[in-house]
Amino acid sequence: MYKSGNSVGVLKMKKQAWSPDSWRSKPIQQVPDYPDPTALAAVEQRIASYPPLVFAGEARKLKKGLASVAAGESFLLQGGDCAESFSEHHADNIRDFFRVFLQMAVVLTYAGQMPVLKVGRIAGNFAKPRTAPTEKVGNVELMSYRGDNINGIEFTPEARIPDPNRIEMSYRQSAATLNLLRAFAQGGYANLEHVHQWMLGFVKDSPQGHRYQELADRISETMSFMRACGIDSETTPQLRSTDFFTSHEALLLGFEQAMTRVDSTTGDWYATSGHMIWIGDRTRQPDHAHVEFCRGVKNPIGLKCGPTTTPDGLLELIDLLNPENEPGKLTLIARFGAEKVAEKLPALIRAVEREGHVVVWSCDPMHGNTIKAASGYKTRPFDLILREVEQFFLIHRAEGTHPGGIHVEMTGKNVTECTGGARAITDEDLRDRYHTHCDPRLNADQSIELAFLVAELLKRDRLALDSRKAASA
Ligand code: PEP
Ligand code: CO
Repeated sequence: MYKSGNSVGVLKMKKQAWSPDSWRSKPIQQVPDYPDPTALAAVEQRIASYPPLVFAGEARKLKKGLASVAAGESFLLQGGDCAESFSEHHADNIRDFFRVFLQMAVVLTYAGQMPVLKVGRIAGNFAKPRTAPTEKVGNVELMSYRGDNINGIEFTPEARIPDPNRIEMSYRQSAATLNLLRAFAQGGYANLEHVHQWMLGFVKDSPQGHRYQELADRISETMSFMRACGIDSETTPQLRSTDFFTSHEALLLGFEQAMTRVDSTTGDWYATSGHMIWIGDRTRQPDHAHVEFCRGVKNPIGLKCGPTTTPDGLLELIDLLNPENEPGKLTLIARFGAEKVAEKLPALIRAVEREGHVVVWSCDPMHGNTIKAASGYKTRPFDLILREVEQFFLIHRAEGTHPGGIHVEMTGKNVTECTGGARAITDEDLRDRYHTHCDPRLNADQSIELAFLVAELLKRDRLALDSRKAASA
């Protein structure tokens, strides 16, 4: 049905030439209305001459890592803010995010006993798709906030006007953020011998803190044993540094185009704004601009799959985005919500398997579980987040496919944005420290708690696989 129904259209699309600006002739969603297109064009032209943020070789390395995830041999941890902001651009915030992220990765590596690929939603994740183009407070209606690289979050008519200079500011902020992240990842901060020091003060006394402490003790013990055998961070670079990659939603295509360059070693086009870019749930129309842009770059691409994604629709997108079926190229990020995942995900997995597509399946348990609390805050109940992840694992176990990763909105700060978790944040608590510029994030405690749950699920899958292998031997 899919083959005969869509292949002609797909072939036609495939034959169409691609260029970094070919998206401009397509219909587009979620595009800001800049009052001064000349000023916008001038900024884009300037950015096109600026240095790339990432190198093609790094994007290829990430793709290789993702190919290993697709083969069921690694696990993908992708996370960070829903939206980065100019006002929160502090070294402490970057460091605290990185610490929690490392803690999550170590929990997953230890229990899952597989390499964890670390990809931040950071150093470029500013632009946000919005459900409504305007926002109303009382009788005042203004343009929605679309992310700090587009307009301001303050509820004033001036702040909400899209300002192209913000794109340049976000480029510079991304460069500075990435610089610090590279230093942390390669310069010794991520050394496994520091596994105890990643713990944040406010996490120490929580149940997750104690759990993490125990695991860190075991790792330290193993490291001491290995040191006695002659293996330490001096002799083994893998123990003292890690690979950390960046990602963001490729929403603001003028900026993405300006950052798209030919890699001199291969002659291929790469988006150099981040290692991985993804297409959001609201901009994945196959004949529209965002898919057009993403189909031409060689970076690993993420595709959000939501409740309206159909098996045929997904196959059409896979043909466009990964026509060569290159392993590691495409990550499907399932974001259905705890209520819908069991109804929607199996049919998509079966369609992908039937057609022989190699993909990474990752679970975003955030975006399908957003609710409005009685207090008026947008929140996400932690138990729904856990339930979606659990379902995701169960479904993959039943289908015989690899639950390849998780994609979360999180921060290293002690915020109160998602309800629940071991510290049982209530609806009333949300007002205490609700700081997000967009969607509610897991705080440090909740992030580590989630990592422990995923680690348990990975371990269960690994043990089941081991006993199946033993039975058939
Ligand atoms: C996001 O990841 O912040 C986002 C907007 O997700 P989605 O496109 O899945 O709604
Ligand atoms: Co979000």
